[in-house]
Amino acid sequence: MIKINEHYLKLQASYLFSNIAKKVTDFQTANPDKEIIRLGIGDVTHALPQACTEAFHAAVDEMAVDSSFRGYGPEQGYDFLREAIAENDFQSRGADISADEIFVSDGAKCDTGNIQELFTLDAKIALPDPVYPVYLDTNVMAGRTGDFCDGRYEGIIYLNSTKENNFVPGLPTETPDLIYLCFPNNPTGSTITKAELQTWVEYAKENKALILFDAAYESFIRDEALPRSIYEVDGAREVAIEFRSFSKNAGFTGTRCAYTVVPKECTAFDAKGVKQLIHPLWNRRHCTKFNGVSYPVQRAAEAVYSEAGKIQTTNLVAGYLKNAALIAKEINTLGYDFVGGANSPYIWIEAKGDSWEFFDMLLNKTGVVCTPGAGFGKCGEGYIRLSAFNSYENVEQAMLRIKETLV
Ligand code: MLT
Repeated sequence: MIKINEHYLKLQASYLFSNIAKKVTDFQTANPDKEIIRLGIGDVTHALPQACTEAFHAAVDEMAVDSSFRGYGPEQGYDFLREAIAENDFQSRGADISADEIFVSDGAKCDTGNIQELFTLDAKIALPDPVYPVYLDTNVMAGRTGDFCDGRYEGIIYLNSTKENNFVPGLPTETPDLIYLCFPNNPTGSTITKAELQTWVEYAKENKALILFDAAYESFIRDEALPRSIYEVDGAREVAIEFRSFSKNAGFTGTRCAYTVVPKECTAFDAKGVKQLIHPLWNRRHCTKFNGVSYPVQRAAEAVYSEAGKIQTTNLVAGYLKNAALIAKEINTLGYDFVGGANSPYIWIEAKGDSWEFFDMLLNKTGVVCTPGAGFGKCGEGYIRLSAFNSYENVEQAMLRIKETLV
């Protein structure tokens, strides 16, 4: 008799963004004349930078000719892309990361979800609340939690991110093995200082823990004092893995390209307490379960680092930041408390009530889609998230409708 993995039965009915998408589709079906403005899921709306599409086209042309055609590529990614990443995203900022520590993949969602496979099932997990649901759900699926009771899974160490701590959680009282951090934060848009990040790195060292640092939104940082990578902090190479993506800086949400950094000093412990390197284990997993990102997509990603690509991606992000600033300004004028909107594409707003009710009210009265904070965890109740990923005109229109409804 084939038995299912019962841990899947502990999951909430559907993935947050699938749930929202269904609600929006139902609303649109019932109100075909209403024009919906999506400020919900953090999906980009502007076209790929021209430098990327030109490189993409040229690589497709190479694939059309026997002499330049490529079959399977290296699972870890082509050297041309790994070298461009190491040099531009790390070495140029004083972070000591080499090309062979970069693993190119088809998404930070997959990588942040898959990484937990390397660790024992009794690993104690600490994650922020509110949190990007993938970190939590993949640990539930693996069986690292108990049941879902009163809005939380048993066995998880929740790091409350609240107004009181400015949405940057403090160190836990119970000692974890694996710590998920994400800055600029999804969903709150909060940022972390180098000193705060240093505290986490030292804590991980002292407690033989590992930090999984999701930096998918680093390109939105404009404040030069803020760290863009955890490797800008001393000692992080031994205790941190970092996740990055081309989705938000270069519009690759539909194109798919990301990468994970596993420094060669990064270790976890075996059953005897002996240090084991993580790099060869992740490499082994990657080679067994993944066959690499397509050649044209990697050429398109490489173009992000060309002279033209740097200008175009900077402008792309600047456009979304302009939207974020407009949302923040209008929300402030309306007298709502919020965080984010600078150095981040997300604005986390105190809803003055139930977050799903606020979501429904906003959709029904304005046709604007937000993300209810409760979908990100218990501490998200009472909040909603607005995303800056849309055209400036649509954001202006959305804020006009919101102002008319909320004043
Ligand atoms: C979000 O809206 O939180 C993001 O789009 C999620 C993701 O990047 O997968």
